[in-house]
Amino acid sequence: MKQVAVIGLGAMGVVLAKLLIQNKLNVSVWNRTPGKLNQPGLEGAKATTNINEALREASIVIICVKDYEATYELLNGVSLEGKTIIQLSTGTPKDAKTMSAAFIDRGASYIDGAILATPSQMGRPDTPIFLSGNAEAFSKSEDILKVLGGGLLYMGDSAGAASAWDLAVLTNMFGMMTGFLHGARMMEAEGLKPSDLGNMIVNIAPVLAQMIQDTGNDIDAGRFEDPQSSIDICAQSFELMVRQAREANSDASMPTFLLEFFDKGRKAGLGQNRISSLIKVLRNN
Ligand SMILES: NC(=O)c1ccc[n+]([C@@H]2O[C@H](COP(=O)([O-])OP(=O)(O)OC[C@H]3O[C@@H](n4cnc5c(N)ncnc54)[C@H](OP(=O)(O)O)[C@@H]3O)[C@@H](O)[C@H]2O)c1
Repeated sequence: MKQVAVIGLGAMGVVLAKLLIQNKLNVSVWNRTPGKLNQPGLEGAKATTNINEALREASIVIICVKDYEATYELLNGVSLEGKTIIQLSTGTPKDAKTMSAAFIDRGASYIDGAILATPSQMGRPDTPIFLSGNAEAFSKSEDILKVLGGGLLYMGDSAGAASAWDLAVLTNMFGMMTGFLHGARMMEAEGLKPSDLGNMIVNIAPVLAQMIQDTGNDIDAGRFEDPQSSIDICAQSFELMVRQAREANSDASMPTFLLEFFDKGRKAGLGQNRISSLIKVLRNN
């Protein structure tokens, strides 16, 4: 049976190790702070503070530590020859590509991954994990990775793709969440319930999502003109939102940011264009 090493027993790593143990896999675990090796649920694993020992028999090495820097540090001088390294710590696409090149040079196959769930959501049939990198190594490790999350999404052989997808999805999520929080304050200031806004957003989500989808298609096709809602018209709403925040004695960070961003587009002569054209501002061209 393949041995899987889990490197890093923080809040996420320990859950990954336990899931593999529960699924009767042959697991070795390593953590910088030795106390975490004795946690309940890890009894079935070979626990060691010696990184070489943790990796010796392992063909698959799952890493879940603070960041890429910690990964280089802990694997410094360790033989990676013939091993599949699956990096599940969070980083940028450049971090992933640089690590992929470095570990391939050291004789390993490299897969980069990004977990889109919290520890308590791991191991479900729909738990999403983005993965990218060596396709053959991915297909050989797929059964083991499915134990960690059934919703595996392989994003191609560029090691940086999983991280790009991860950060792009997080940008969407937190952008929407920040907008929601500002809207919740608007509701509250008028004696309305923030939870009603949350419910409303759920109901109209398909229409909002279609606008996102259309904008993506516009960018791909280079369609920037003939808007249904011009940048000028959208920016007017942000001016109103800034005024509303002042009138309601609320913080105006969110509409101020939106206004400043759309103003960059207006200054670049894009006022009568589609929102998709703001990609030109982001390109820094
Ligand atoms: N928690 C989540 O919901 C979640 C979700 C998706 C992705 N992730 C990613 O998973 C990774 C781990 O997150 P976590 O929540 O498990 O973090 P955590 O609970 O803070 O644990 C951090 C882990 O990294 C280790 N570590 C830190 N610096 C190190 C170093 N220099 N050398 C060796 N080991 C080092 C820690 O070891 P010690 O025990 O010795 O301190 C610990 O095992 C992060 O990249 C995070 O972004 C987490």
